[in-house]
Amino acid sequence: MKMMMLLLVSAVALLVSPAVASPTPHKANINLNHILEEVEKFNASFNKQVFVEDVQHLVDSGCGDKFFCKVQDILHKHAQINKGNDDETIARNLKAFNVHRNVSCTELLHGMTPTGTEISIPKLLDHLKHCIQQTNFRGK
Ligand SMILES: *[C@@H]1O[C@H](CO)[C@@H](O)[C@H](O)[C@H]1NC(C)=O
Ligand SMILES: *[C@@H]1O[C@H](CO)[C@@H](O)[C@H](O)[C@H]1NC(C)=O
Repeated sequence: MKMMMLLLVSAVALLVSPAVASPTPHKANINLNHILEEVEKFNASFNKQVFVEDVQHLVDSGCGDKFFCKVQDILHKHAQINKGNDDETIARNLKAFNVHRNVSCTELLHGMTPTGTEISIPKLLDHLKHCIQQTNFRGK
């Protein structure tokens, strides 16, 4: 039975993967699994000591729209001083993900006060990974 399930899962993966893997270089990819791959790749290549605003409170409150808006904003700002890196791609895809869900980040982030605490980029990426997995799990 287990073997059968495995076979079924691989068959489905085979059916699905060409669509997922096909490169669309100039189009934003809003697929969360794709974004997660970019996050892990960026994390593995990132070796600087850069600190950004903490987002723990947005993780604790359930990885909602505000979380994804805030991380998009942080990575976009960071990418501007770090041109040509994967963080720009992640920020762009997160933006597309937010727009696709009709979330107005400008409105959501308006008037939000910074927490005053800072975390490292890898820590931010860990939060992002956690929230992507949560969102996938909820099937949103
Ligand atoms: C998107 O948001 C706008 C403004 O908040 C709203 O008027 C519109 O109905 C929304 N569209 C969808 C597809 O949710
Ligand atoms: C980032 O790298 C660190 C150190 O290798 C690891 O502990 C962490 O789990 C990684 N996070 C992500 C999101 O890949």
